[in-house]
Amino acid sequence: MSSADHQEVLDAALTLIHSRQHVSPRRLGDPGPDAQQIEAILTAAGAAPDHGLLTPWRLVIVPPERRHLLAEAFVEALVERDDQATEAQKQDAREKAFRGPFLVLVVARLESELGPTHPQERLISAGCAVQNMLLAAHAMGFGAGLSSGQALYSQQIRRLFGLSGEERALCFVSVGTVTKRKAPRTRPSASDYSSTL
Ligand SMILES: Cc1cc2nc3c(=O)[nH]c(=O)nc-3n(C[C@H](O)[C@H](O)[C@H](O)COP(=O)(O)O)c2cc1C
Repeated sequence: MSSADHQEVLDAALTLIHSRQHVSPRRLGDPGPDAQQIEAILTAAGAAPDHGLLTPWRLVIVPPERRHLLAEAFVEALVERDDQATEAQKQDAREKAFRGPFLVLVVARLESELGPTHPQERLISAGCAVQNMLLAAHAMGFGAGLSSGQALYSQQIRRLFGLSGEERALCFVSVGTVTKRKAPRTRPSASDYSSTL
């Protein structure tokens, strides 16, 4: 690559990184990514740094026709946490499962049989995979956001997604067309979080 090409790639990469922002799943509508775009988003995850080449995470897509199962799990998890939960709270938990046209759960694989790398390295790899997906979706013109919440740590979610004892549900990634955008947040400057030894 010539230095002019490098400059162009750098400008595009930094613009992409800095213009990405979290979009709440409730602000993501149709159309979502098509099959080819989904493949590209998932493939971007596979480009994450991966010490030991273990792919220490996996992705589980929740297609529209299976969202009702997620809705049930969210409600059951809520009731287990709070047996006084109101109908409105249950309805809110249920609705969360239907937000955003494309939804995928990111699962960290922490089982020792997978290889010698420390769990911390695996979580970092998973985080990088998430960021790759967010940036790929953003580059396609979609909005994307992460969601977690207490249900993520529930037995109901573990069961639904078939998580083994040493797997951990990290977050959901939602992708779709932005229906309403929020003002970008002010991000910290490098001097806020960096120092010199
Ligand atoms: C692992 C993880 C889980 C998240 N879960 C939620 C969530 O449940 N709800 C939410 O509103 N934002 C969630 N976020 C998104 C953050 O709120 C968002 O990244 C933050 O506000 C900074 O905004 P930005 O991404 O636009 O810079 C999550 C982020 C991460 C890294």
